[in-house]
Amino acid sequence: MAMTVTLKVWRQAGPTAAGRFETYTTNHVHPDMSFLEMLDVVNEEIIKAGKDPIAFDSDCREGICGSCGLVIDGLAHGPDRGATTCQVHMRRFRNGDTITVEPFRAKAFPVIKDLVVDRSAFDRIIAAGGYVSINAGGAPDGNSIPVAKDVADLSMDNAQCIGCGACAAACKNAAAHLFTSAKIAHLGLLPQGAPERSRRAIRMVEQMDAEGFGSCSNEGECEAVCPKEISIASIARMNRDYVKAAAGK
Ligand code: SF4
Ligand code: FES
Repeated sequence: MAMTVTLKVWRQAGPTAAGRFETYTTNHVHPDMSFLEMLDVVNEEIIKAGKDPIAFDSDCREGICGSCGLVIDGLAHGPDRGATTCQVHMRRFRNGDTITVEPFRAKAFPVIKDLVVDRSAFDRIIAAGGYVSINAGGAPDGNSIPVAKDVADLSMDNAQCIGCGACAAACKNAAAHLFTSAKIAHLGLLPQGAPERSRRAIRMVEQMDAEGFGSCSNEGECEAVCPKEISIASIARMNRDYVKAAAGK
């Protein structure tokens, strides 16, 4: 059965233009559509009316790439826990609902257009130290180094971060600590990442600060919206790594 929904969508022509909400109503929504498929339908209607479609990011549409972040009814990635925007389906809403759609908002994520924000600040944090540059050998060498199961699991839990930016968008301080700590943890916990653990922590934390992200005040909003359910325990680990590294230990 088709649903009718009304959207209040943030429209902003460019980075320096003033933004405003515009309202769109569509009667052509199916409960099994994803949220992004619903936006596609709305865009087709906007294009048919000769107007500029709503700009929004997406790529994989299956929770992998991290490009699809939207704030839906005030929640980064919408109402489902452990899910990205592209994994939200219209059956989560009721026929006749009004839904507010906004871009991720953080000083370090400037709006490019409408719902598209510039998340290159995350790329620069990764470039500052989110890699292993020592010669770690080939796959057989990696397989021959014993890693305790609980340590390997913790590293892989953190490696799930897809760099979507929801953690920063949900934080009242626009802090990027969950993202940065996940990247530091997934490398630093493994033997191949250990030699650069101190340098990595210093460089990535300093780059995070330089990008204009805020301070962490332990609100936990980041963990609540993270589609990969990264634990805020990673932030405590990053802080320990940073303090030890800064003290030269
Ligand atoms: S920590 Fe979670 S919310 Fe933050 S960028 Fe990574 S996947 Fe997205
Ligand atoms: S489009 Fe790739 S995670 Fe949503």
